[in-house]
Amino acid sequence: MKRLSDNILLLGNTNFNYYLAGQKEAVIIECGMTAGVSLLAEQWASLPQKPEVKYILAMHSHFDHVCGIAMLKTLFPSALAVGSARTQKILTSDKVKQALKRADDIVTAAYIKNGLLKEKPADLNIELLGIDLCVGDGDSLNLGNDLKIDIFETPGHSPCSISAYFEQDKAMFLSDAAGYRDDSG
Ligand SMILES: [Fe+2]
Repeated sequence: MKRLSDNILLLGNTNFNYYLAGQKEAVIIECGMTAGVSLLAEQWASLPQKPEVKYILAMHSHFDHVCGIAMLKTLFPSALAVGSARTQKILTSDKVKQALKRADDIVTAAYIKNGLLKEKPADLNIELLGIDLCVGDGDSLNLGNDLKIDIFETPGHSPCSISAYFEQDKAMFLSDAAGYRDDSG
């Protein structure tokens, strides 16, 4: 857990990063997977001041960015899951959701085997894998107190990718749009 700026807190374990942006009202940027959300839940419990999480933002539909939606919705039942229209459509497929669950189960098992999780979390509920609110170019998520997150469509890494800009703290959230670490470094 690390404070990145006045209004942004980094949660997760660096493999799964979650950005809590806002003050009284907040968005969780990135959804990760059940294993990552399990770690976020522990960090959340230890936060002295908890904002109202109004939105959880899925940056694109790849498995390591959407499987966590289900557990995040359980943790924050009043929050809206937000993503692109393409991501929403992809997450209507039962076949896709079953495949996502299989991937999620593998990562959770690896976390437990390697001692990164103490307890097995509840199984991913695929009924909760979905986007409630579609966003695209020109849309914003209002966080009160004149704080907002602006959305940009940034296809390239995947057609469904979006990025988010938090003007107040001059922070851009690119997800995988600018590349990511692999074995080549
Ligand atoms: Fe990706």
